[in-house]
Amino acid sequence: MILVTGGAGFIGANFVLDWLAGCDEPVLNLDKLTYAGNLQNLASLQGDARHVFVQGDIGDRDLVERLLAEHRPRAVVNFAAESHVDRSIHGPEDFIQTNVVGTFRLLEAVRQHWQSLPEGERAAFRFLHVSTDEVYGTLGAQDPAFAETHAFEPNSPYSASKAASDHLVRAWHHTYGLPVLTTNCSNNYGPFHFPEKLIPLMIVNALAGKPLPVYGDGMQIRDWLYVRDHCSAIRRVLEATGYYDRSHLLRDSHLFLGCSVREFTRRRGPLNQIALRVREKVLGQPV
Ligand SMILES: NC(=O)c1ccc[n+]([C@@H]2O[C@H](COP(=O)([O-])OP(=O)(O)OC[C@H]3O[C@@H](n4cnc5c(N)ncnc54)[C@H](O)[C@@H]3O)[C@@H](O)[C@H]2O)c1
Repeated sequence: MILVTGGAGFIGANFVLDWLAGCDEPVLNLDKLTYAGNLQNLASLQGDARHVFVQGDIGDRDLVERLLAEHRPRAVVNFAAESHVDRSIHGPEDFIQTNVVGTFRLLEAVRQHWQSLPEGERAAFRFLHVSTDEVYGTLGAQDPAFAETHAFEPNSPYSASKAASDHLVRAWHHTYGLPVLTTNCSNNYGPFHFPEKLIPLMIVNALAGKPLPVYGDGMQIRDWLYVRDHCSAIRRVLEATGYYDRSHLLRDSHLFLGCSVREFTRRRGPLNQIALRVREKVLGQPV
């Protein structure tokens, strides 16, 4: 069994569904069900004994310790986080609480569990921390793509809280030997994307004929990765040995958009045409 945290959110739910589509190893799914968690994402797993859902907080150490002792997972994949940059600007407290304090408490519960395992299970155990390439800062139009060696330069409360959690995870390997893996992924898109995020927001607004909002000067460059490709990469990293103190940067440059929001906005004319076609062909609503 593996323990997945935040498995009712956008990427976590895709990961759980992909995992169980590919193998029968059960998933224990711990999710607080904040505004971003949605059990509907996992509706197709209703009645599936391979999926055990528990509503709870990664920062609740007693709960996590009980779950680890009861289910004895061979790995933990930590998706649970506050993840929306704009929300982190208006209310950073929750980001510090879940992303920093929550990760710390989760690490401590996992460390205690891992240290109690017999030798063979201890060697095979993994703690995989899912993080973001936003810890590396912001790319300008002429900058090369991020690499794992890029210095941490977080620019928002969200990315600062994720960077802090990445440092904690690394330190739990160097100090206690916990076998950790950290992935730093670029922006994801795909099924179950929460409507407040850039791509669904643009599509929903375009479909409704509303303005396409631009963040800052709209010239931020972002790489995009299809969420299910991210999930495949996480599965691959989970099977890796060694590399515990290094991050695994996951990206697929320019797979989807460049992405300059201004460029996106400039193309609003054609986009609206696409939106109208979607409305007609996919939603069956005449234009
Ligand atoms: N979305 C992206 O483009 C992207 C890119 C790179 C990395 N990431 C990282 O991937 C992870 C998942 O991102 P997402 O987009 O699926 O996020 P999300 O906001 O859609 O989902 C987060 C999930 O975590 C749960 N959660 C929040 N606080 C919790 C807590 N204290 N205890 C237990 N569960 C809690 C929520 O209920 C939700 O189900 C995050 O760590 C994020 O930093 C996201």
